[in-house]
Amino acid sequence: MTSNHDVEAEPDCFFNPDLFVNKSLVKVNYSIQDLEQQPVWVSAASCTDHDQTGEIVWPISIFLSWFVAARRDLFRDQQVIELGAGCAGLPGLIASRFAKDVLVTDGNYLVLETLQRNVAETRGIFRTITDHSCEPGEPVEPMFKSTCYGQSTYDCSVGVGDEKALNNNSSAVAVSRDALTSCWHEKGKLETRTLLWGDKKSVEAVVNEGWRPQILLGADIVCWIDFVTPLLQTVKFLFLHAPDRERAVLFLGFVNRANSTERFLYAQARAFGMSVKRVPHETFMPIEKRCWPSELQTAQELEVLSISLDPTLEGYDSPVSFEESRAYDWATPC
Ligand SMILES: C[S@@+](CC[C@H](N)C(=O)[O-])C[C@H]1O[C@@H](n2cnc3c(N)ncnc32)[C@H](O)[C@@H]1O
Repeated sequence: MTSNHDVEAEPDCFFNPDLFVNKSLVKVNYSIQDLEQQPVWVSAASCTDHDQTGEIVWPISIFLSWFVAARRDLFRDQQVIELGAGCAGLPGLIASRFAKDVLVTDGNYLVLETLQRNVAETRGIFRTITDHSCEPGEPVEPMFKSTCYGQSTYDCSVGVGDEKALNNNSSAVAVSRDALTSCWHEKGKLETRTLLWGDKKSVEAVVNEGWRPQILLGADIVCWIDFVTPLLQTVKFLFLHAPDRERAVLFLGFVNRANSTERFLYAQARAFGMSVKRVPHETFMPIEKRCWPSELQTAQELEVLSISLDPTLEGYDSPVSFEESRAYDWATPC
């Protein structure tokens, strides 16, 4: 027989995580600028008790996606990693319309389950041509349709150089030979990985696999002051492994929920040899806020910050020292 004392001593025996996890998903279509809508599976609610904050799409994620769409030229042919992507990785999925390779990551395995589903479905909708590996001029299945840089939907059954088919197919949108060739040859990988901030092994594994991006994305990943340092450790490690470290950049969708956290972010970034700049809203959003999408009509100030190594700061190129013993303390548990 178990005494009350025994029950208190071993609470884990009676803990069922499923009580706190919302596994019912709904499909939401996000309209980002002029792009074909992005469908994603999300949870109808998030539970902060076990930091399931990544189960929903936060407004700043939509805001950062607008930034990505507006600056699409920056992303063309690039490798991109999104950090703390949550279940949807919306900015990363939008970047994948333009970039070559995109890796969407998170540290929470429950969130990653939905993220994997969203990535697989997005690959199926927007990146089928690469998966099919068709060559210009090669006849392909009519079902392979894609969006080329979000500008023109065309029928991939019309190959480059196949002028006759193009003329006979009224549903096909005539796009330039260059655009078709780009679509076929510039699309690469769209994948997910576990990437826990402040954990050296986690980020090394990603880099050793060949992920060395110039551009990082992150939306609402500076929520708690304790996460700032591990996040910056991972960011700086990735910057130092980028092909051109001085041009490597993190575009951070940021909501200031506490001035102390904001001040710490700026101070810690500087201590890591990085500078932080605000990207003016007007450069990627309608000037009048009442014209912004309804999801962005929030009382909170939404910002995109651009964070990069600053060669004028001492130690900007010094290697990252990870505090290994604490890395897993920051894991989002469940
Ligand atoms: C507020 S949610 C933002 C999710 C998504 N980016 C958005 O804006 O909708 C914060 C995300 O950061 C992830 N996260 C928190 N701590 C982390 C850590 N130490 N390493 C990796 N990811 C972490 C959480 O799992 C969660 O998905």
